[in-house]
Amino acid sequence: MSSYVVTGASRGIGFEFLRQLSINPANTVIGLVRNVKSTEAKVTAEINRSNKASEATARITGGSIDYLIANGARLPEGSSFVGFGELGKNPTALEEELIAGCKTNVVGNVHLFNLFLPLILSGQQKKVIAISSGHADLDLISKYEIEVSGPYAVGKAATNAVVAKFGAEYAKDGVLFMSISPGVVETGHFNPAQLSENDRQSVGVLATKFRKYAPHFQGPMTPEASVKHVISVYEKASVANGDGGSFVSHLGTKQWL
Ligand SMILES: NC(=O)c1ccc[n+]([C@@H]2O[C@H](COP(=O)([O-])OP(=O)(O)OC[C@H]3O[C@@H](n4cnc5c(N)ncnc54)[C@H](OP(=O)(O)O)[C@@H]3O)[C@@H](O)[C@H]2O)c1
Repeated sequence: MSSYVVTGASRGIGFEFLRQLSINPANTVIGLVRNVKSTEAKVTAEINRSNKASEATARITGGSIDYLIANGARLPEGSSFVGFGELGKNPTALEEELIAGCKTNVVGNVHLFNLFLPLILSGQQKKVIAISSGHADLDLISKYEIEVSGPYAVGKAATNAVVAKFGAEYAKDGVLFMSISPGVVETGHFNPAQLSENDRQSVGVLATKFRKYAPHFQGPMTPEASVKHVISVYEKASVANGDGGSFVSHLGTKQWL
């Protein structure tokens, strides 16, 4: 029996964490969301298990949690498929995107970790997992010329540094901090019908680069498959094994696809 807090649990990968972790009725799983009502309705409709969120939260916040999964993130709006040079044509918009991304994805996670650390320190498992992205891997960016999604990559790379710093500070207390990329996951961000012609072309170029990097790559996986991988990676990981502060993929390696 374990207790979990998952951020960004309203949809996509975060919602799938709620679903998979709550399969074991002995677990207590708390999802942090911005829209509580609509998420409660979605949990009832799609997971349909006992939903005692507020009661469990009150009980747990007075005690401990075993796992914190920092999944929620502000995803890029106009910068997913263009580079900094192109974004620089509108410096104000570029600056706003960088600051908004860092505020939610970097500063937000620093506060999240500090807020939940007292509960994590009282827990049994003591694991804090940040859902990162292969976009933050500097070698991948350089070697395969992955120039798109700059502001998002900056936020994820900075969060990896935050995770390593927290890991360094709390290793002595037995807390494992790790950044794990979930792989490329179909959560509604890759629908060609919703992309502009320019973005569709950029996706084609990106897909060619991905195929060069990973010839086996077939396209996005389901949230179910991704979350199973990520759980398996953090379950095997420990401070004692030297995993503290590390940044790995859903495969537990530096293979991002
Ligand atoms: N999908 C992929 O291929 C992929 C690849 C690499 C990494 N990731 C990472 O995986 C995680 C989940 O992504 P996803 O694909 O599941 O995306 P998603 O379906 O768009 O879900 C994003 C989640 O983050 C929350 N969120 C967005 N902006 C927020 C903000 N400003 N403050 C608080 N919460 C906010 C959303 O809440 P609302 O419902 O309230 O908007 C939602 O719960 C993210 O960290 C993402 O960077 C995804």
